[in-house]
Amino acid sequence: MTVRVLTGITTTGTPHLGNYAGAIRPAIAASRDPGAESFFFLADYHALVKADDPRRVARSRLEIAATWLACGLDPQRVTFYRQSDIVEIPQLTWLLTCVTAKGLLNRAHAYKAAVDKNVADGEDPDSGINAGLYMYPVLMAADILAFGAHRVPVGRDQIQHIEMARDLGQRFNHLYGDAWRQATGRDGEPLVLPEVQIDENVATLPGLDGRKMSKSYDNTIPLFAPSAELKRLVMSIVTDSRAPGEPKDTEGSALFQLYQAFATPAQAAEMRHAYAEGIGWGDAKQRLFALVDETVAPMREQYARLIARPAQLEEILQEGARKAREVTVPLLDGLQRAVGLGPFSVPAIAAGASTQDAAVRLPQFKQYREADGRFHFKLVDGEGRLLLQGDGHASPRDCGQVVARLKREGRDALHEMEARAVGLLGERIGTLGEGLAGVDGIREALRQLAEVAE
Ligand code: TRP
Repeated sequence: MTVRVLTGITTTGTPHLGNYAGAIRPAIAASRDPGAESFFFLADYHALVKADDPRRVARSRLEIAATWLACGLDPQRVTFYRQSDIVEIPQLTWLLTCVTAKGLLNRAHAYKAAVDKNVADGEDPDSGINAGLYMYPVLMAADILAFGAHRVPVGRDQIQHIEMARDLGQRFNHLYGDAWRQATGRDGEPLVLPEVQIDENVATLPGLDGRKMSKSYDNTIPLFAPSAELKRLVMSIVTDSRAPGEPKDTEGSALFQLYQAFATPAQAAEMRHAYAEGIGWGDAKQRLFALVDETVAPMREQYARLIARPAQLEEILQEGARKAREVTVPLLDGLQRAVGLGPFSVPAIAAGASTQDAAVRLPQFKQYREADGRFHFKLVDGEGRLLLQGDGHASPRDCGQVVARLKREGRDALHEMEARAVGLLGERIGTLGEGLAGVDGIREALRQLAEVAE
């Protein structure tokens, strides 16, 4: 069985070298594994939790889509889409919301941190907190559960979210598993419980000031900064005060760590040697700039081409959404019916149910020959109770014709005659069963049969 791997990309900010080495590059490499079926998406509904400037939201998702493609994501091989194109995600979000304990959401890290900060500042605990932040884990659970993902590669800060997705999935399965099996005729559980995947080998890059490269520290090097800007930023990386000719430590050197993240092992060994030999910081920075510039140049060009053609990007993402919905539409159909929603016209047990299940539960006509040699029919309901006992006929053909007329006209033209006899347009065809359903019960059964026949 192939493993279904899914991950969401938050569409805020401009991607930097740290995002590239720590997330983009390893994710794309992993997507080439033939044993994995990958789903990557732009978490643009999540972006609304924090952003309220529509132009920035729009710009960021376009930039991030172009970035992943420019970095080598192959949309033929990976299902690449926007969260907001998959309407089944917000649908599932609501189904999950209704099985989510409010207390569970109270304990989510991001919400709790916001509350704690308010309390520390002497504010109302929920001051300035929107319900989107509160619901964030449920939307994320829906992202994952809507695709039956087995594995979710994320950073450590997301572990709690994956655990919550498992919790919600388990709760849903527990409450609705039986109904789902009945509605769909399938075995197993409606929702797959995902496993978190933390890649221990992935680099966290230092930023210009030596702390972790992060937008919140304002110490980033944008992935697709123009060459001159890249050079300027690399030259501003902090170093110690050792002069050229003095041996330098690679340990704890942000410059060296950045170099290593883009170097082959041989290049890294060479740089280590140059450090020991006392390379000047200016020279070392020049080498780092050259290496990074050479690595990103082809991607930067591709990025520029993509960003200039939004219509082409749109087409790629529409195709991704189409592939994605091949998974989510049937899944949601089953889940909706499991909770008691879905179309009236599809009896929960008929669509998708095995023929055996359907036969047990739908009303049925039975035709047979009695001891007197005449041909009879009867209509029984899903539980096998007699609704109508047909009169006898000389031939099976005559008997079959009455059944056919009943199916065709019975819903409109059936009526009760004296002594529990049943008539069709004034002509007696049989007698009512023992139950209380009467002629209405027969009409209801005919209606159900007509619907499945459609
Ligand atoms: N919350 C994730 C982050 O900040 C992004 C995300 C949204 C995600 N939905 C997801 C990741 C589903 C994995 C699976 O990084």
